Amino acid sequence: MEQTPDLTLKNKVAVVTGASSGIGEAAARALAARGAVVVLAARGEEKLRVLQEEISASGGRALAVGADVVDRGSVEALMGRAVAEFGALDVLVNNAGVGLSGRVAELRAEDLRHVMEVNLIGPLNCIQAALPHMGPGGRIVNVSSVIGLRAIPKVGGYCATKSALNALSDALRVEVANRGITVTSVYPGTTHTAFRENSRRTGSERRGWRPPGVTPDRVAEKVARAAEKGGRDVYVRLSDRLFVAGAKLLPGLTDRALRLVLARK
Ligand SMILES: NC(=O)c1ccc[n+]([C@@H]2O[C@H](COP(=O)([O-])OP(=O)(O)OC[C@H]3O[C@@H](n4cnc5c(N)ncnc54)[C@H](OP(=O)(O)O)[C@@H]3O)[C@@H](O)[C@H]2O)c1
Repeated sequence: MEQTPDLTLKNKVAVVTGASSGIGEAAARALAARGAVVVLAARGEEKLRVLQEEISASGGRALAVGADVVDRGSVEALMGRAVAEFGALDVLVNNAGVGLSGRVAELRAEDLRHVMEVNLIGPLNCIQAALPHMGPGGRIVNVSSVIGLRAIPKVGGYCATKSALNALSDALRVEVANRGITVTSVYPGTTHTAFRENSRRTGSERRGWRPPGVTPDRVAEKVARAAEKGGRDVYVRLSDRLFVAGAKLLPGLTDRALRLVLARK
């Protein structure tokens, strides 16, 4: 017997940044599968068009819009386009992001500035441009990282950008609560995407041991659920949640464990 599709986001308009790859691409598919109209944003328009066609071919609705989250004008145009085409803006998924590796002593300020622009100012631009169009029931989903909650060696700069995003999410959640808008932070751990290849690097040092990762589809399901139901903090795996809880409870022991596992040359 064929299953009835779960159209819990039917006709909700969702803007997804970083929809040309990895978690954003999977999240766009997951939202479309639940009936949302998905506005696909990233700089790489060609890939967005391919995804738009794929979603349309499977009976969904999507629109590809080239946008650079760092550029406020480009983000204003993106949100304006979503509202002009579909008459509403219900969900914003701030997913676009870039990695940065290297020991703190060696990080280049210009690399950190760039990654901060994409990972923090980008979501800020999108939030500020989307909020005037959002009403009660609006959902903002910020894709953070489990290492934005407890920084680890060799990616301290990246962790700092996600930590700053968490702070923004916490303040915003309270500020918009009386408008009926929710703000969710999603904390993925290692996820199998092109993220590492797309990351900025200081030197050629390897990060060392990494936990086994999850598929972008698994993270996308969490993002789609947050777009439906809101919620505050969303982890993808129990082990991520336990790592964060353990690190809060026993920070010194966590430092020692990280030294053993990750900080060696
Ligand atoms: N993969 C992991 O292990 C992992 C773990 C935790 C959290 N995360 C977070 O998950 C999010 C998605 O990462 P991913 O793993 O899917 O990486 P990815 O495959 O490299 O995708 C990154 C996306 O961000 C877009 N992007 C980058 N700079 C942009 C800009 N200035 N304006 C608009 N879009 C931009 C890219 O598209 P264009 O280049 O076409 O613009 C691409 O679509 C990021 O925020 C990342 O920090 C990833």
